[in-house]
Amino acid sequence: MTTTVAYEPFDLAFRADPYPTYARLRDESPVHRVPERAGVPEFWALTRFADVWEAVRTPATFSSAQGLTFYPDEIGQLGIPPTIVMLDPPTQTALRSLIGRAFTPRRIADLEGKIRTFVRSRIALMTERAAAGETVDLHQLLSSPLPVFVLADLLGVPESDRAAFAPWVAAITRVQNDGFAVSDEPGGLQAMAEMMGYFTEAIAHRRGCTHDDLLGALVAAELDGQRLSDWDILGFCFVMVAGGSDTTASLVSHGITLLTEAPAQRELLLADPGLIPGAVLEFLRLESSVQALARTTTREVTIAGVTIPADRKVMMVYGSANRDPREYGDTADLLDVRRRPDRHLAFSSGPHFCIGSHAARLQAQIAFEELLAAHPRITADPAAGVRHDSMFVRGWVSLPAGDLSDLSV
Ligand code: HEM
Repeated sequence: MTTTVAYEPFDLAFRADPYPTYARLRDESPVHRVPERAGVPEFWALTRFADVWEAVRTPATFSSAQGLTFYPDEIGQLGIPPTIVMLDPPTQTALRSLIGRAFTPRRIADLEGKIRTFVRSRIALMTERAAAGETVDLHQLLSSPLPVFVLADLLGVPESDRAAFAPWVAAITRVQNDGFAVSDEPGGLQAMAEMMGYFTEAIAHRRGCTHDDLLGALVAAELDGQRLSDWDILGFCFVMVAGGSDTTASLVSHGITLLTEAPAQRELLLADPGLIPGAVLEFLRLESSVQALARTTTREVTIAGVTIPADRKVMMVYGSANRDPREYGDTADLLDVRRRPDRHLAFSSGPHFCIGSHAARLQAQIAFEELLAAHPRITADPAAGVRHDSMFVRGWVSLPAGDLSDLSV
C-alpha cells in the first residue's frame, strides 16, 4: 500500500499531538521506514501493539546493546559503560536478578508514609499560593518535585545534600530527553560526573559498614556467590535518575489534564477512590511518558510483510501501541478509569520491563488520592502549559492549574 504518512519525531507539530499520525501509521504503514537524514541513519518504527509487544520480548532479534535511540553511538557519547537498560540477556538478566534482591516492591511500599507527607506538604503550598492570588503551577509545585524527593530518599541522599541533588537530576534528565545527545547539553556531562562522584563515595562508605537503605542493600546483595560491582550500582543509580524522574512527573501532570478533559471519569474516582490505582495505569496508557525507544536488529527480520535488514534501529513506539484499537477496542483513545487491560506497554515488557514501575505507580496513586481529597475539582490548563522538548519522553515543564477558585478554599 502506498501511503503519505510519515513518522516525524523531529517535528514539533507532530510531538504536540502525535496521536492522529500514530493512528494512520498503524493502519497504513505499521512497519514504517524513516529515510536517512543528517546525523540519523535510516530507521524503522513499529506502531501496532502486537508488533511492539513481540519485539521487546524477543531481545535475541531486537537488541538494546546499541542504545535506545536512532542516534548512532549514544553509548560512546555518554562516556560511561553500558547500564542495565542497554545490555542484553544473559548479562542483563544476571544483573537484574541481583538488583532485584535489593530493589523490592516491599522497599517501595515502605515509602508510602513519607510520600504521603511530602505530597500533603506540596498541596498545602499550592493552596497557600492560590489563596495569595498567585498562579499555581501543578507541574512545578507537585509533579516535578515528587519523584526527585523519592529518588533522593531511596538513594539515601541526606537532607543536607538535596540542594545539589535536584539540579543533577534535572540536568541528567535533560540529556536523557534529548536522546543522550550529550553534546547539546554541556551541563549534563558535568552533572553526571558530579553525581557519579557523589555516589562512588556513598557506595565506598557502605562497603565499610552496613546501611539500611537501598544503596546499602545493593552493596550487600548476593546471588550464587555473585555481587554487584561499584559500576553496576552506579549504572543503576544513573538509570533510576535518568528514567525515574520526568517520566513519573509527566504521569501525574497528564493525569490531571486527562481528568480535566473527562469530568464524568473524575466523578467515578471521587465516588470510588479505590479506582485510582487502575486510573493511574489508564493515564499512562493514554499519555505514555516514554513515547518511543529503539532496539537494533541482530538479523534480517520480516514483520507484516516488511523486511528490515540486520543492524538497523527500530523504534518501539509505545505511545502508539498503547492506543491501538486492535488491542483496546473502539474506545482505545478514551479515558476509562474502570478499564482493566490484560496487557500494557507504558513500562515496556519482557526483559527490560521497568524496575521502577511500583515506585512510579505508588507516587501517582498517592498524588491523586491526596489531590482529589483536598481539591476534588482541580483542573489543569494545558494551553497555558509548556511541554518539554523531547522526541522520546512526553511531558511538561510547566502546567498551570485551571480555575483556581477551588484551590483557594
Ligand atoms: C511513569 C514512570 C515511568 C515510566 C513510564 C517508565 C518506563 C520505563 C520503560 C518503558 C522502560 C523500558 C526501557 C526500554 O524499553 O528499553 C523502563 C526501564 C527501567 N526503568 Fe522505568 N519508568 C518509570 C519510572 C521509573 C522509576 C521511578 C524508576 C526507578 C526508581 C525506573 C527505573 C527503571 C530502570 C532501572 C529500568 C531498566 C530496566 C532494565 O533494563 O532491566 N523507572 N522504564
